[in-house]
Amino acid sequence: MCGIIGYIGPKARNIVIDGLYKLEYRGYDSAGIAEYNPNTKSYEIFKETGRVKDLKKTIKDNYETTLAIGHTRWATHGEVNKVNSHPHISSNKRFIIVHNGIIENYKRIKYEYLKNYSFYSKTDSEVIVNLIEYFSSTYSVIDSIRKAMTILEGTYAFLIIDALDNETIYFAKKQSPLLIGLDDKGAILSSDLLSFVGVCDNYYSISDNTLGYIKGKELKLLDLLGNDIKPKFKKINIKEEDINKGSFNHYMLKEIYETPYVIRNLISKYFDNDDIVLQDELVKVLKESSKIYIVASGTSYNAGLIGKYYFEKFGHKEVSIHFASELMYDDIYIKPGSIFLMLSQSGETLDSINVINRYKGLFKIISITNQEESSLNRLSDFSLNLYAGREIAVASTKTYISEIIVSLILAMSICDNNKELKHELSNLAVAVDKVLLKAPICSEIAKEIYNSPYLFYIGRGLDYYVALEASLKLKEVSYVFSQAYPSGELKHGPIALIDDKTPVIALITSEATNAITRVNLKEAKTRNAKTIVVSTETFAHDNDVLVLPNVVGYLSPVTLAIAVQLIAYYTAKEKNCDIDKPKNLAKCVTVA
Ligand code: AGP
Repeated sequence: MCGIIGYIGPKARNIVIDGLYKLEYRGYDSAGIAEYNPNTKSYEIFKETGRVKDLKKTIKDNYETTLAIGHTRWATHGEVNKVNSHPHISSNKRFIIVHNGIIENYKRIKYEYLKNYSFYSKTDSEVIVNLIEYFSSTYSVIDSIRKAMTILEGTYAFLIIDALDNETIYFAKKQSPLLIGLDDKGAILSSDLLSFVGVCDNYYSISDNTLGYIKGKELKLLDLLGNDIKPKFKKINIKEEDINKGSFNHYMLKEIYETPYVIRNLISKYFDNDDIVLQDELVKVLKESSKIYIVASGTSYNAGLIGKYYFEKFGHKEVSIHFASELMYDDIYIKPGSIFLMLSQSGETLDSINVINRYKGLFKIISITNQEESSLNRLSDFSLNLYAGREIAVASTKTYISEIIVSLILAMSICDNNKELKHELSNLAVAVDKVLLKAPICSEIAKEIYNSPYLFYIGRGLDYYVALEASLKLKEVSYVFSQAYPSGELKHGPIALIDDKTPVIALITSEATNAITRVNLKEAKTRNAKTIVVSTETFAHDNDVLVLPNVVGYLSPVTLAIAVQLIAYYTAKEKNCDIDKPKNLAKCVTVA
């Protein structure tokens, strides 16, 4: 989704453009920059649809600039074009804004405050900059921003510059992320810590309902009442090598290959000898809960399905799982004493934030995210880290695995019989290493399926849950439509779609479902489907295309997931897709 960045200091343009490149992974469809031109003593604005590299070509660079703000836009209000891209400028041309978030009451603001204004774009952001202009005839800039904040409803992090001032960036934040870094060279503001890498090694995560400015090297942070806020800066622990592709062609492949490291890292973070290490209070809350509501979206939801299985099997808990976007509007009975378990790699998914805001205070909330400084973590009673390292590809891979494992660790923490878990996870890391050696077979499977208009992934139980993720991954990166079906359901409808052009991929990793899933696959084969079996050593039959190493049954979703992630990756590669930045998708979904 949208990303914002601003810099004051030498080489501001380069730092902002480099920062925009680092924000690309979040997903966007246009980009723009506003920068101070010392020759004309005015701000220049450049915008372009498409990629940051396209924007870079349009910038006049015959001058040095020490102040710039930039934006990558993922269209919500108004189509993808230059007019709607940021930065936006106020009617009298005094204020320029880049904004991340959504203003829900922008139409009402236009009607109540800005009747005499005309608007050139279809964006909600243009309303913010004009509202600030509106108040600036009476108030100082900072007070105009504060006045605007009392009226704006929705989510925002924005940076504002004043055409009358070439050394100040103003900012405000509510629910969208905004971080600030300061050192001897300059000051950076961004929606994502990645833009700080190589620029500044400290950061402060600005709290909600905060506004302020950086003027040269002076930082002012205020709450809505005008009280000063004292920032506590932290050290950044991301290195340049953590965010480059190394020897891989794509981040997605690199991140799949990082899975064994992620598993070993989780062992080191969540175990002391063979014992699970978690906050006592968290384990108590979990133990005493009457029911667990798992809430997530997309891939995290698919991981949650496996988590549900673990909490039922090992934690002996009643569990239900919900799409965040549905639970927000469902009118369901929530059992007293329940807890909410939020799963999200980004920790910024607005659907999940909305659910927390609906139930916070009524029920305890545990978040599992890959971002320590995320909105979900801040809003929750307890938070757990996925420790997956940065995931740059839009499609989640290693964080999905980590969500499965952290859910398992949590479920096992309330189970007496958990002493073998660490050992099983160590075995799992070795097994994943072995699955990765089978990448050439996944590439062959991709060659079989990439031309198909659609296909089915089938399985039962845990295999079905992985089939759901296999289908999502395939759709996301290769644009091949895939539907996951519990294998026994095929005959209840979708079998009508099967002919000699339809691949049906069966996932088989359990004794209980081995024979029956093969019967269902046979039903598809009889209708001329191209059948492919992915199984494990113990349950393999002669013609199975991909046979995975054995792991303890409850961990088979992990080895299987690696295989289907690789199949999705190679299918996308066959089709020459933009694998790390699939069209229309964003890494961080901050719209509802
Ligand atoms: C994952 O590959 C997808 N891009 C998407 O389904 C994602 O899982 C979903 O938007 C939820 O994101 P979150 O985990 O950051 O909350």
